[in-house]
Amino acid sequence: MPSSTPSLLARDEGYWQRIAAKYDVEPGPVNLEYGYFGRMTRTVAQTYQQHIDAINRCNSLPVRQHFEQIGSVQIRDAVAELLGVPDQTVAIAQSASAALQSLIRNYNRLQPGDQLLVSDQEYDSVQNAMRWLARQRGLELIEIRHPHPATFENLVQSYRHAFERHPRIRLMPLTYVTHRTGLVMPVQAIAACAREFGVEVILDGAHALGQIDFDLEQLGIELAGFNLQKWIGAPLSLGVVYIAPDKIDAIDPDMGELRYPQADIRSRAPYGTPNIPAWLTLPTVFDEHRAAGGAAVKGARLNYLRDLWVAPAREMAGIEVMTPDDPRLYCGITSFRFTRHSDQAVMAERLLKEFNLFTVARDGSACGPCIRVTPGFSTTPAEVGLLVNALEQLA
Ligand SMILES: Cc1ncc(COP(=O)(O)O)c(C=O)c1O
Repeated sequence: MPSSTPSLLARDEGYWQRIAAKYDVEPGPVNLEYGYFGRMTRTVAQTYQQHIDAINRCNSLPVRQHFEQIGSVQIRDAVAELLGVPDQTVAIAQSASAALQSLIRNYNRLQPGDQLLVSDQEYDSVQNAMRWLARQRGLELIEIRHPHPATFENLVQSYRHAFERHPRIRLMPLTYVTHRTGLVMPVQAIAACAREFGVEVILDGAHALGQIDFDLEQLGIELAGFNLQKWIGAPLSLGVVYIAPDKIDAIDPDMGELRYPQADIRSRAPYGTPNIPAWLTLPTVFDEHRAAGGAAVKGARLNYLRDLWVAPAREMAGIEVMTPDDPRLYCGITSFRFTRHSDQAVMAERLLKEFNLFTVARDGSACGPCIRVTPGFSTTPAEVGLLVNALEQLA
């Protein structure tokens, strides 16, 4: 663990050169689309490969004799430690989507006449799962669009307003960091407001884990889904279900799963043969994550790189930065729009073709189509400078 503070380390280029040297990076366009998934360090990739080879050689014997009873439980405990929660509150799933869908599908506290809530900032598969749940249970789904530009107060207020107008709302997902614009939701304040109105919150922490230093208990969150491939640096195919001890009875075993006892959270993750080599790699992943300074340092670096382009872009005519500058509401991911060009997907294409910068167009949020920029741990300030230059020319 580094000894300096996160904000000092965030701008210590020597430190980040050493971190960048841990990754193998294919030459090519500048990647500003780490929001999809992160890189594994070389050490993690090699460890993963070794586990693939070993499992392939040994096949099911070590899996049946050790992994199922002992290894998988120890790895689950390491995931709980990463989240700072008790071991029995965590199960490993195949993705954040699988984790969140299981929580939504198996939530058993809904009554006829109850309402569900979903916002424009949720991940598409979460929105769809809520629509599915409403149809399956014959319940009304209330869909809200968050105010733009967002402020801490107006975000909390938009929930309070929805709860006041629709007093039968009982369940809602809440995305910590939205994949559309990188907006960071005031989770603690919204969760407190939801509790006041008797609304259960399922937190989508896919983009938060590894870049935001949070404490689920402090946030007041009792149900959550995460993945490990974005900011933690794990192999693909790993998600996490979190259920606070007092909430396990609110979630049924997934589709009647009987493999584990009723009270065992592992029955709340959809069952399937896991990606065993990926699971076995997790202890190395967590060592690497902590060695880089954990979420506090990683998050500070991503914010620093974000500020490097957002500050000048905010002043440019023809550019609208969609994500606010309130430090409580942003992280490394931020979206913008070319206000004089109608098709943002075409502009993202131009950034790639004319400036060698890889970003992604994002749609579906009430604030409209935009281009999402997500630096990573091997991104340099010089590369961010290339983006600033491109925006100046294209705006
Ligand atoms: C906010 C958010 N939620 C959920 C997911 C789904 O994660 P996974 O791909 O692990 O299912 C993503 C993926 O990008 C996301 O950005």
